[in-house]
Amino acid sequence: MRTLHIIFLTAGILLLSACSKPDKQIFGYKVASPDGQLSVLAGTDKDGTPMYEIRNKGQLVIAPSMLGFDLTDGEALDYDFSVTDVKFSSADEVWQPVWGEERDIRNRYNEMLLTLEQKGGVIMCLRFRMYNDGLGFRYEFPQENKLRYFNIAEERTEFAMTGDHIAWWISGDYDTQEYNYTRSRMSEIRARSRETRLGNASATGFDDAGVQTALQLKTDDGLYINIHEAAVVNYPTTNLLLDESNRIFRTWLTPDAEGVKGRMQAPCVTPWRTIMIVDDARKVLASRLILNLNEPCAIEDVSWIHPVKYMGVWWEMITGKSEWSYTWDVPSVQLGVTDYRALEPHGKHGATNTNVRRYIDFAAANGFDALLIEGWNEGWEDWFGCQKDYVFDFVTPYPDFDLPALNKYAHEHGIRLIMHHETSSSTVNYERHMEAAYNLMNEYGYDAVKSGYVGNIIPYGEHHYSQPLINHYLYALKEAARHHIMVNAHEAVRPTGLCRTWPNLIGNESAMGTEYRSNINPGHTCILPFTRLQGGPMDYTPGIFEQDMSVTAPGQHGKMRHTIGNQLGLYVTFYSPLQMAADLPENYERFPDAFQFIKDVAVDWEKSLYLEAEPGEYIVTARKPRLETLNSGRLSGKSSAYEFVHAGGKVHDVWFVGGVCGEQAHEAVVALDFLTPDVEYEAVLYADAPDADYETKPQAYTITRSTVTASDTLRIRMARSGGFGLSLRSK
Ligand code: NOJ
Ligand code: CA
Repeated sequence: MRTLHIIFLTAGILLLSACSKPDKQIFGYKVASPDGQLSVLAGTDKDGTPMYEIRNKGQLVIAPSMLGFDLTDGEALDYDFSVTDVKFSSADEVWQPVWGEERDIRNRYNEMLLTLEQKGGVIMCLRFRMYNDGLGFRYEFPQENKLRYFNIAEERTEFAMTGDHIAWWISGDYDTQEYNYTRSRMSEIRARSRETRLGNASATGFDDAGVQTALQLKTDDGLYINIHEAAVVNYPTTNLLLDESNRIFRTWLTPDAEGVKGRMQAPCVTPWRTIMIVDDARKVLASRLILNLNEPCAIEDVSWIHPVKYMGVWWEMITGKSEWSYTWDVPSVQLGVTDYRALEPHGKHGATNTNVRRYIDFAAANGFDALLIEGWNEGWEDWFGCQKDYVFDFVTPYPDFDLPALNKYAHEHGIRLIMHHETSSSTVNYERHMEAAYNLMNEYGYDAVKSGYVGNIIPYGEHHYSQPLINHYLYALKEAARHHIMVNAHEAVRPTGLCRTWPNLIGNESAMGTEYRSNINPGHTCILPFTRLQGGPMDYTPGIFEQDMSVTAPGQHGKMRHTIGNQLGLYVTFYSPLQMAADLPENYERFPDAFQFIKDVAVDWEKSLYLEAEPGEYIVTARKPRLETLNSGRLSGKSSAYEFVHAGGKVHDVWFVGGVCGEQAHEAVVALDFLTPDVEYEAVLYADAPDADYETKPQAYTITRSTVTASDTLRIRMARSGGFGLSLRSK
């Protein structure tokens, strides 16, 4: 073993940290961001414990924090290490995502690779990539190693804070992120944890001081720190456990059914741990740190992957207006045995031939690409809460859903149907049926599936975020890619940028979405882009114009807390290549002029600008559509977004601006200096009316047309939990 000693170093990069805690002095090496403002120092302390710290302009932001692992065999990879090698490199490249917030993404960082060797021969490398907006680092275990197979009891990565920062957090959990966010000081997390946990079909907290990532923090000096992870592959998802007295967030991995937190085989790497550090909230939204840390696209032919604007036979089931199920005439279902044709339909089934045709007609008439249909397949009478293994077969339609005929009808109208696979979290059953299910989709021309993981996981004892499940989601995604199928997985793990590598992952839910209706707090959608959306797009399902559930579904109750303007703004502030107009056709028919914005807006972008942002309070975003994907989702005819850009037979320069705000009203100041100078644009502003308010007048909006140029600045008032949509089209 060769150990580098301080005395032999000539490169001038071996440093000692002069931190406030003498026992945490780091002997190591430093790498700075390309602009020189951020730097990480990493190495070991005097006991050989791997350590790192991060500074911004010389000031400590992440105090000396330890690194390492506890293994299940009692060994610990957190002492007696020494640095035996260090390599520096840098990269500056531009890559193009298949779909995204912008055409070109710059990946520019300085890298430091430390090789550490423990007395006894374990080799553990630490790879650090320092970007202008943050750090990514991961552990790497090379083949030549004393360790070959090893099981993790806990990863010991720490994130030591320098103060009692403000945090936007959801409670730590192994199974769900479907929670409202809470804004509080770090020190208040433990006391407030329980009040934040809503009921969910599968929820497993582990400690009241546990939180999930992406975790957004703000220091009293106005720095925004965002902790998350990138490229979680063959490894469990992490939560963070706050040690309040030391203000340290500690990695807390999701255990598998036997309590193991990662089964490793060298050579292997962990996911990247990411720490974004920026001085302006807008930079959090503009960051591409997570995507950059993922591997390039693994799919050679991506021509079948496309953005999708869709509607669904869905909200009517969520609101209780109709049902996923077909009958109330059966106490328990055994697939292949239960004869649905002999059963009495209850008359509330949503996915009937007649109703689906009605939606196809509406979606086609309004220029959408696709229609999701849930509750089309046998088994919905008996799936929820029973942890049933053989729960659905994903290929047998109900008697009143004519799958071939409906696909034919849809395709004749330019619409594709989106398949729905509710796995009920029986991943064994899903894998058992997957090939046949995807083949059925291929046979009838479905190219996208919404999958779902409601309830506790089978194999029994596993969690939604444990390593076997992480492997399942990726398996489903790869198999889908093999069949040229795009995936939108609900209740699966929150994303960590894998859509760069597998761009057929066009959506995930993995947070509290519209389905929670009146439970959603005002401001929720002003936090998600800072947290959940950092890892990839969300199928939030916006566009709910009727807030009062008793209107949508007589006999139901509850009111959603947003204005119509707010729902329009989401189509721009929430990036997703898969965007739904989630409300019922009949609710859109009542507000055709506001619905026009949803029809016009694009879902894939050439460029994005983040004009105003503060977590939980407001977000204002401007985006320019990417022309070549405007019509790629439609089977025939032109999509409504395509028509908007090509109105009158010419190609217009177009931008969309969206704004949303939280519990407090907000005036957005939108300087239009991103428009082409000296060109006149027709602006259509869909704004909250002066008297709009999410509690008293949520449906009050105004639509104003005007001519604007790049030298104009618009002041747009957003009501409480309000927002606006603005289209700008060159004349
Ligand atoms: C939960 C999903 O989030 C929702 O969209 C879906 O309709 C239900 N599960 C049923 O699968
Ligand atoms: Ca859900």
